[in-house]
Amino acid sequence: MLAGMDRDRRGPARPWVGRKQAAKKIARPGAVGWDPVAAWYDQLVGKDGSDYHQHVVLPAAMKLLGPLRGRRVLDLCCGQGVLVPDLFKAGAVAVRGVDASPRLIESAAKRFAAEKRVEFVVADACAEDAAWADGGFDAVACLMAVHDVPDLPAMARNAAKALKPGGEMVAVFMHPCFRIPRQTHWGWDEGRKLQYRRIDRYGVDLEIPITTHPGKGGGTETAFYHRPLATVMNAFGQAGLAVVETEELYSHRRSQAGGARSKGEHRAAREFPMFLALKWVKLPVTPGPQ
Ligand SMILES: C[S@@+](CC[C@H](N)C(=O)[O-])C[C@H]1O[C@@H](n2cnc3c(N)ncnc32)[C@H](O)[C@@H]1O
Repeated sequence: MLAGMDRDRRGPARPWVGRKQAAKKIARPGAVGWDPVAAWYDQLVGKDGSDYHQHVVLPAAMKLLGPLRGRRVLDLCCGQGVLVPDLFKAGAVAVRGVDASPRLIESAAKRFAAEKRVEFVVADACAEDAAWADGGFDAVACLMAVHDVPDLPAMARNAAKALKPGGEMVAVFMHPCFRIPRQTHWGWDEGRKLQYRRIDRYGVDLEIPITTHPGKGGGTETAFYHRPLATVMNAFGQAGLAVVETEELYSHRRSQAGGARSKGEHRAAREFPMFLALKWVKLPVTPGPQ
């Protein structure tokens, strides 16, 4: 969901669309998923990543993954493969990219056609019989997709299944406490001269339609799945993945407005994280549900 990332700055475009109504309109991973917006997303991300990828997401993911010399890595929900070059730079010997969008996988396969150490698979990260999760991976990376999958416990189970015992997983995703499309907004307190973050909803799961770039090859709705922090953490914990490192990541962007507000806006950019980055280790035994 790098796409509508700053959308919530503009305030609520329209009230949240109820689950039933949204379900009719949203592109489903099992059907076409991100395919209708694949060309737009591929162009947005390009070879080197979007602005956020380059300045925040990729550096944080690679820092948490650490050296990958001799490692086999699964790039879960890999999209058009933006992470792949960094994985090889860090020493990975083999990479498997998995994504539900055939078009994004096609773009990835084209981009890395000459690279023999990578393979791309079209598959649903949440499917039950995930043959691609073969238990032979040293590391799993999942960038900007924890909030894009409809069944997080299923995805977490597959990630754990893909890993060798003691293997590590890293994910970077929109911070569930501060970045909820349509439900979180910036506001300005004139009296205190500060920019504040308004959170209208947080404590229940939400399926939020995101319209990607209408008029620029997008216009199709994908779904953003908001889950409270405890729901996210428990999905991975119950899959047998134990958190070993957490980072809250801030936007590198700063207001260009100048004037009276700029101090308050800069402060807010340093106070309210945009992304959450987590690193897990696969436990030897999977805990049962609480
Ligand atoms: C915001 S994009 C991120 C892609 C890539 N990791 C990146 O950082 O550019 C979200 C990706 O999740 C994929 N996705 C969504 N639901 C999925 C599912 N159930 N199984 C596999 N991939 C899925 C989409 O096809 C899309 O490529």
